[in-house]
Amino acid sequence: MREGQNAVKSRVLSGLRPTGKVHLGHLVGALQNWARLQDQYECFYFVADWHALTSDYADTAGLTEYVVDNVADWIAAGVDPERSTIFIQSLVPEHAELHLLLSMIVPVAWLERVPTYKEQQEQITDKDLSNYGFLGYPVLQTADIIIYNAQYVPVGEDQVPHLELSREIVRRFNNFYGQVFVEPQPLLTSFPRLPGLDNRKMSKSYGNAINLSDDAETVRKKVMQMYTDPKRVRADIPGTVEGNPVFMYHDAFNPDVEEVNELKVRYRQGKVGDVEVKQKLARALNTLLDPMRERRARALEKPGQLRDMLFASSARAQKVAAETMARVREAMRIKY
Ligand code: TRP
Repeated sequence: MREGQNAVKSRVLSGLRPTGKVHLGHLVGALQNWARLQDQYECFYFVADWHALTSDYADTAGLTEYVVDNVADWIAAGVDPERSTIFIQSLVPEHAELHLLLSMIVPVAWLERVPTYKEQQEQITDKDLSNYGFLGYPVLQTADIIIYNAQYVPVGEDQVPHLELSREIVRRFNNFYGQVFVEPQPLLTSFPRLPGLDNRKMSKSYGNAINLSDDAETVRKKVMQMYTDPKRVRADIPGTVEGNPVFMYHDAFNPDVEEVNELKVRYRQGKVGDVEVKQKLARALNTLLDPMRERRARALEKPGQLRDMLFASSARAQKVAAETMARVREAMRIKY
């Protein structure tokens, strides 16, 4: 973000919805990648609070609750507010203006065929997702990205169809009004999806995740209750490592590969108890999380400072967004 670097570094942008506590799934699926990308790119990372509204519109009481808390976790995970622009979507209302203008040129059929649209409508039964804003979710996401001319968008596999749609929207816009936007490309997070502690999909509604803000004892307790090979009712029965969440977590978080391999061998032979395997996982997790807990505590020591940072960098983001909107209005001849 510093002067002089802008010309040489490509821009990366990504966002997360503030729908709950940040957990290990976010860490391996997004945040570790976000932190790494800071070395090579000019990074914009934002809290997609409006996107949270596309499904959680009925109760807005919790909407802002997680914003500062989540950003503290991002910083804990290594996202650096000195190097990256960390901002809040709704503090940059230009996203909404661009979303509106894009909505004029996006065929409804393009939105109806986005896989997440039908899937989520079918899967999420406790909310009515027949609202206009939910259909337009990927249009708002497109506005988020292209308003900063971001070339790269680090996302998980599930977001690839959204990015494809973003590129189609850019092509349609540029075709009508001239070369204004660049087509964004996904930067896929290579890590396979982590299951929840109970081997279902990790989700805040299942309460089956380890949060970055959990203390050591909570982590230990959660690990001891993890789902493991259900056929293994005694420690001397050979167990299955593949697809076993306890070992998937070992592979993801235990840097002591030798220890993990040795545990796998003994597990397959029925020569190790689940308790030992879990204790070692809890230890590895707490070793990983300890420095993050410290950084999180430091970031939250002065919540006023964190809020000031968010306002200041949202203003920086807004400056970029406003410049883009001036070009958009010019290109679309909406000028008086
Ligand atoms: N849809 C993303 C998710 O659920 C969140 C998001 C909103 C986003 N706008 C974005 C991600 C722009 C990348 C770029 O994870």
